[in-house]
Amino acid sequence: MPAQAFPEGFIWGTATAAHQVDGGTWNNDWWAWEHTPRSPCVEPSGDAIDHWNRWPADLELLAGLGFGSYRFSLEWSRIEPEEGEFSKAALDHYRALCARCRELGMQPVVTFHHFTSPRWVAAQDGWANPVTAERFARFCARAASELGDLMAAACTINEPNVVAFYGYRGGAFPPGERSSERRHQANHVFIEGHRRAVEAICAAAPGVPVGLTLSMTDYQAVDGGEERVEKLREPMEDVFLHATEGDDFLGVQVYTRMLVGPDGPTAYPPGARTTLMGYEFYPQALEACLRRAWQVTAGEVPLLVTENGIGTADDAERIEYVSAALDGVLACLADGIDVRGYTYWSAFDNFEWAFGYRPTFGLIAVDRSTQERIPKPSASWLGQIAAGNSV
Ligand code: BGC
Repeated sequence: MPAQAFPEGFIWGTATAAHQVDGGTWNNDWWAWEHTPRSPCVEPSGDAIDHWNRWPADLELLAGLGFGSYRFSLEWSRIEPEEGEFSKAALDHYRALCARCRELGMQPVVTFHHFTSPRWVAAQDGWANPVTAERFARFCARAASELGDLMAAACTINEPNVVAFYGYRGGAFPPGERSSERRHQANHVFIEGHRRAVEAICAAAPGVPVGLTLSMTDYQAVDGGEERVEKLREPMEDVFLHATEGDDFLGVQVYTRMLVGPDGPTAYPPGARTTLMGYEFYPQALEACLRRAWQVTAGEVPLLVTENGIGTADDAERIEYVSAALDGVLACLADGIDVRGYTYWSAFDNFEWAFGYRPTFGLIAVDRSTQERIPKPSASWLGQIAAGNSV
């Protein structure tokens, strides 16, 4: 096949999130949840991959592979360990990280909230409490004023739809509730938190593009499931897509599809290939979700793939998955959809929330007994695509 080029300036990156890689993030709700007997967590995060200390070598490795951006998250509980008490040391840590990204030619893409909240926030009803939106915006203002001259882009909240659903309705994330009313309340507070965070970051760091990152699924109706799809999608995606009006970009994060019949989600087709997460290997989902995001936002919000990837022990399968997903991105670009970049989840094998360390999404493996980093073939394969801006 002839090489196919991506538009000039297309951003190629990888991503991580603080709690999944740093280690020792004991002052947040997830650490507490990992140690709660009724939680479904299979193991605690512990030292994770010690990225908190090993970030300089990690950044060099990623830049050396050819990536032009690095998306990581700020750990709110380190920066504001108690209400109103800000840690200069933690802010300095993130300043150094951003500055080193710049020196290495990687754009620092900063996420302000990636699933975890400080224990003091959780103790005051977390994201079901409207006051959390204000507190979050105050934290964003402080962090953005420290990092504004270095950040390339700011993501306010990572997948608020997932946190609201699994935390307040599905029981798998803290606080482990099972109430649809509380889930809707959390959706509402997250949307308010996003809007206030956009204002706060724009004021503190003028000129830095700001957006939300949303988990999307390729919902496909089967046997007359159309109405049911609409019902599922409204609180999961549409309310958030509508809340991105006027934003500088929307981060689209996609992993798979879901088949939905008139009574709800149905089984995958017989013989379907599944990943270590238990869901279907379905890289075509990215294209479908990019098209839908573009349609629902009326083509007014540029798109950035801020996460796409696969948890697999077979690295050849990762290359197959990403190749197919990138074909979908090219098809969107050919149709005039404004997709500005592709970020692979994740740079490293890491702590996959309630599933623990078993699902391996990384381009780089980590031997957690020595913390040695071992790049997989997919790391140089995708790094070359990034460096050449073409497949
Ligand atoms: C999250 C990541 C997670 C990944 C793979 C996304 O929902 O943002 O934190 O590790 O999916 O499951």
